[in-house]
Amino acid sequence: MKKATNYLLVALILIGSACQQKAKEESQAEEVAAISDDERMAWWRDAKFGMFIHWGAYAVPGGERNGEVCKGGAEWIMDKLDYTIEDYENQVVANFNPTQFDAKKWVGMAKDAGMKYIVITSKHHDGFCLWDSEVTDYDIMDSSPFKRDIIKELSVACKEAGIKFCFYHSIVDWHHPQAQAPLYPNYNAGQKDQSVFNPEFPKYYENYLKPQVKELLTNYGDVGVVWFDGDWIPDYTTEMGKEMYNMILEMQPRTIVNNRVDKGRNGMEGMDKEGNFAGDFGTPEQEIPATGIDEDWESCMTMNGSWGYKPSDTNWKSSEDLIQKLVDIVSKGGNFLLNIGPDPQGLFPPESVERLSDMGDWIDVNGEALYGASASPYDRPEWGRYTAKDGVIYAHVFDWPEDGVLKINSEIKVKKASLLADNTQVLSFDESGIALPAEAVDGAVSVIMIEL
Ligand code: GLC
Repeated sequence: MKKATNYLLVALILIGSACQQKAKEESQAEEVAAISDDERMAWWRDAKFGMFIHWGAYAVPGGERNGEVCKGGAEWIMDKLDYTIEDYENQVVANFNPTQFDAKKWVGMAKDAGMKYIVITSKHHDGFCLWDSEVTDYDIMDSSPFKRDIIKELSVACKEAGIKFCFYHSIVDWHHPQAQAPLYPNYNAGQKDQSVFNPEFPKYYENYLKPQVKELLTNYGDVGVVWFDGDWIPDYTTEMGKEMYNMILEMQPRTIVNNRVDKGRNGMEGMDKEGNFAGDFGTPEQEIPATGIDEDWESCMTMNGSWGYKPSDTNWKSSEDLIQKLVDIVSKGGNFLLNIGPDPQGLFPPESVERLSDMGDWIDVNGEALYGASASPYDRPEWGRYTAKDGVIYAHVFDWPEDGVLKINSEIKVKKASLLADNTQVLSFDESGIALPAEAVDGAVSVIMIEL
């Protein structure tokens, strides 16, 4: 009798929780249907400026092995300097112990720089995972001495600071046995032959890649953007991409996904314009499209030449250049995702800290001309760029005119012109243009606010 009651109870509980689960799924599905793409994209379109963080065990060698420096991005060192999987595990991952890592500090620096979202590499091509993953031991908890869930700490710090937490996730995996390229005994990095397939890859996709993305969407709160990479390998198909995209939106209907979830990227630049592929925005890499693209897009860029920490690369872009790039991008309707490659202790390189701080100072004064602004409705002026907001045009002056007159587009009917840095300084104007003070207000970009 007692046994029978217990069975009944268990059955009731099971039915109850199945109903609950079903109701949850249904309400999520309704939410997907309820949110338009414009609503979903709104915060991102206004945000303009985000921080990319390429961080993983590759920070330990920093692009250098036995005195040899790898070409290009230091996050590719496993492939470029021919580590075997075992050597990489023992020499690199086992030594990743970033005891100086302080998520709050990182997020604080992003926020002070005027960035509104952070995209961190949960897993790069080397396969090492920065979070506590249930589906592998090749993660920060089990294979490195650090044993702190970096993704957890960062997602919590982002939430506290009002910064959108986002993650980059590599489709490529040089460590997983089922993700190896058939022609290249050392993982799939160099797989150039697009006609040779790995028959095991669908298993990796189904039993590893998808469950990992699910974990990241389940255990770390709201995710702003999922940023895929590694879409180029032949084993990853457009069917997989579309399924992945739909899975993400079913789990978190407000999440935005980049174009590299599918196979439709057009070189480095954009998206498939016909809508044959999944993805919400194009990802021009290390470049700014000459005239913008007719779709949502985000330029990602490094401050020196490497995504991962690479102390031998001292080719830093100046703060002035980075501020002008940000303005250029916003004037063309895009977002700027600017990269940091933290060191193996968990610190941002001092050169990056300095640039973030300079950008933050500029944005403190001029942010109004960027956030929520739209692309310039006019052709690019010789002296700089325009951005626009309701009833206002912002003239971003890169090159201060020698004759002191800012020649503006003839369609702009000026009601009032002033310096954004000091709006008590009203500027006179006539048909020839706006009369400027003798000296540029800002060494990088001075902004003139033009009310229409
Ligand atoms: C390039 C690099 C890769 C990096 C990515 C960011 O594809 O090869 O390492 O993560 O750019 O967009």
